[in-house]
Amino acid sequence: MTTTTLDAPDTARLTAASTIQAMLPRLVALTLDAKQAHWNVTGPGFVQLHALTDELAADVRTWTDRLAERAVALGSPVDARPATVAAGTGRSFPNGWVTDREAAVELVGRIDPVAELIHASLAELELFDAVAHDAAIETLEGLEKYRWMLLAHTR
Ligand SMILES: [Fe+2]
Repeated sequence: MTTTTLDAPDTARLTAASTIQAMLPRLVALTLDAKQAHWNVTGPGFVQLHALTDELAADVRTWTDRLAERAVALGSPVDARPATVAAGTGRSFPNGWVTDREAAVELVGRIDPVAELIHASLAELELFDAVAHDAAIETLEGLEKYRWMLLAHTR
């Protein structure tokens, strides 16, 4: 019989799933904050930011779905309820209109903590579940790409 990750000891699978769960609130909040920026951005960079924030929201949603479904495949339910998301994230995105520059700064400030969290989890995921590790790498690569693109709007 072929041995797969899913045959790994429960502790390895549950540790990987728990590591993924720790990322979910900030990732879900990032999709919401990107949409908040998408709707309320103003200024000369409106068209570019309006499009970029929509792409960010869609991509983060896709990466989050991949990570969450890996945790479930490993045997753990996930928790991305609004109250859990609110409890697991920092200060709120500004209410009301945001300038293009402010929107970019705020989103970079939300990408950084989750990117740091994912980066800090890579060694553990590599040890416990190669698939979750791959999903985390894809997410980190994408987040850092958007960070670069958003930062360009702040200078
Ligand atoms: Fe839209």
